[in-house]
Amino acid sequence: MPSLSVHLKERSYPIVIGRDILPRLGSHLKKAGISQKVALIVTQKEVVAHCQSRLSEALTSEGYEPSFFLASGGRSSEAAKSQPVYDKLIRHLASLDGKGQSIFLAALGGGVVGDLTGFAAAVYRRGIPYVQIPTTLTAQVDSSIGGKTGIDLPQGKNLLGVIYQPKMVFCDTALLGTLPGRHWSDGFAEVIKYGVIKDPRLFSLLEKYGKEGIRNNPRLLEKVIMRCAKIKAKIVSQDEADKKDLRIVLNFGHTAGHAIEAASRFSKVTHGEAVGIGMLVACDIARACGVLKDQSLPARLEQTLVKFELPLTYKGIEIETLFKAMGYDKKTLEGKNRFVLPVTLGKTVVLNDIPAAIIQSALTKRKN
Ligand SMILES: NC(=O)c1ccc[n+]([C@@H]2O[C@H](COP(=O)([O-])OP(=O)(O)OC[C@H]3O[C@@H](n4cnc5c(N)ncnc54)[C@H](O)[C@@H]3O)[C@@H](O)[C@H]2O)c1
Ligand SMILES: [Zn+2]
Repeated sequence: MPSLSVHLKERSYPIVIGRDILPRLGSHLKKAGISQKVALIVTQKEVVAHCQSRLSEALTSEGYEPSFFLASGGRSSEAAKSQPVYDKLIRHLASLDGKGQSIFLAALGGGVVGDLTGFAAAVYRRGIPYVQIPTTLTAQVDSSIGGKTGIDLPQGKNLLGVIYQPKMVFCDTALLGTLPGRHWSDGFAEVIKYGVIKDPRLFSLLEKYGKEGIRNNPRLLEKVIMRCAKIKAKIVSQDEADKKDLRIVLNFGHTAGHAIEAASRFSKVTHGEAVGIGMLVACDIARACGVLKDQSLPARLEQTLVKFELPLTYKGIEIETLFKAMGYDKKTLEGKNRFVLPVTLGKTVVLNDIPAAIIQSALTKRKN
């Protein structure tokens, strides 16, 4: 079973990746040094419905005592990353702890469950161990690795948060089998991002096989997840706290992407869809700024996004709204900005203070 690590001295941890590996979870927890008996598994019903008994068995067979907490905010999955749900989780944790148990947390789900669980683990008793068992493609290639944890406030996403590393990331690729199609595309947007910023061979593989070709080929899927996890693990190992201008490369497509996602409250563009469009916007800005060396890259990226059923344009959002979402002053369209821009496949550059007219024109080009 392929395994890699995030290297952070005494806080280093393994990322275990494989197919149908859930039965071996208990032994991997032992290997990762989890000595607490009670496993409080934070999850959602869409996820746990498919694997509760297998998971429980994998834990009890190694002497762990599983207990489940359903993180549901009602309206949407993201609503579970909220203060009320966090509060419930912490109280539940304290009630189990009151029985004199030694506890660790396990996040079984997508990025929402992962961020919430990691945050609770970081804060409760100033930190208890937790592990990530990601079940969406986004979580397996991105959010479960790196220790960024947090919850949302009514004023905005991820406003309460802390970096707190898990003790292990355990990716069973078979758990993705029940994931709805749109969530696959969402995760593949991040996979495409890794290809552009760091891994031309991964990008070629994506071009060749497309969404269904990878989704329906377990060995290829595992390979793709492995390559992405490796890139993220390496970047996090070098720049855990986002201080050295290395982790920023993961933001490729995210500057315009976040703005499109935030401004699309009605048309509901997903994160991955917005990042896909954001990567195209970054290509156009790179060309206008004269840093794009590989002129064929934007067209290749467009074709790849189409192969993964990701949109090339957004609609119903005013450019001014996007500028505002990016932190610009409404009247003058002046503001500081920072974009990760492609140079060639696998190579990027970070530029600051790009003229507003260039950004405006790139955003306009992608408006439907
Ligand atoms: N910490 C980080 O570094 C980081 C990075 C990227 C994103 N994020 C966060 O991650 C969140 C998004 O995560 P996501 O895209 O995984 O979405 P998600 O966690 O909301 O999951 C999407 C939906 O799929 C369901 N689901 C999950 N696994 C399933 C499975 N195997 N089968 C069937 N249904 C399943 C979930 O219950 C949910 O309804 C956002 O809150 C974002 O801010 C964090
Ligand atoms: Zn992202």
